[in-house]
Amino acid sequence: MSKTNANTRLPRAKGIDMAAFYSAKECARRVKRIVLPNYNRKIIEEFITILGMKEKFEHYDVPIPNKIVMFGPPGTGKTLTAFYLAKRMELPLILVRLDAIIHSHLGETASNVRKIFEYAKATPCVLFLDEFDAIARTRENNDEVKEMARVVNTLLQCLDEFEGGSILTAATNLEAELDKAIWRRFDTKITYSLPDKKEAETYIALLIGDFSHEEQAMQIALEQLTGCSYADMEQVVLKAKRKAIIEDRRLTAAHIEEALVEYKPQPSL
Ligand SMILES: Nc1ncnc2c1ncn2[C@@H]1O[C@H](COP(=O)(O)OP(=O)(O)OP(=O)(O)O)[C@@H](O)[C@H]1O
Ligand SMILES: [Mg+2]
Repeated sequence: MSKTNANTRLPRAKGIDMAAFYSAKECARRVKRIVLPNYNRKIIEEFITILGMKEKFEHYDVPIPNKIVMFGPPGTGKTLTAFYLAKRMELPLILVRLDAIIHSHLGETASNVRKIFEYAKATPCVLFLDEFDAIARTRENNDEVKEMARVVNTLLQCLDEFEGGSILTAATNLEAELDKAIWRRFDTKITYSLPDKKEAETYIALLIGDFSHEEQAMQIALEQLTGCSYADMEQVVLKAKRKAIIEDRRLTAAHIEEALVEYKPQPSL
């Protein structure tokens, strides 16, 4: 696998200024506290293993997977997984929000889509299309969606022609609304959900880390954050830690309680 530019910040590629670039090193820094349920970890490991066995797969004439779609509620690790893949594969991450490339002239939108894929074809990377449903929505219903069908066709074509050293990842909260033809072009699908009790425990422990704390702080955080996303857990625990740092004290249950009142997480369970 190519490591071109993996550890340096890439310049913004000509023609795709709408993309953000992260070096593999930056990606590694962001995923230090990732919690993946075993079933998702297994899917990701298998995906990476296969990429390291290209010759064997070519020998058996079995295509190598290169497209992952991730779906699930907000704040559960979809974007983080794209960073994780880039770190593991030592490739830069190129992040594009599809809602940001929609232009009032749809011809321009289709051309933006093409430019992004051309870039990924020429430069090995993990291409991450966030807010994927913004374009890949089902082609039924209203006129606006019908007009978008042309852009969806461009996207389909780009997906079919996607090959080389890059990996495509896409994320959405609205998998039910994705166009079926788009959906079936992804060889790998990963479902995200809110953390269960064990995952919450693991994550809160990682967030507190070796920061000095009273035992009850952990307990309260666990009790009060049940049903919240990882993102909410992170916000509350970090807010509580800030309070402890200001007071130059260890992290207490009172800090967590205060952070909860201020941050107001909205449990989705
Ligand atoms: N599985 C996880 N493990 C560790 N941290 C997580 C996890 N999921 C989310 N987080 C934390 O929550 C924040 C948001 O996560 P992320 O951006 O991956 O969510 P997302 O699923 O992409 O959400 P959205 O649908 O809103 O884009 C990140 O700062 C990350 O640190
Ligand atoms: Mg995201």
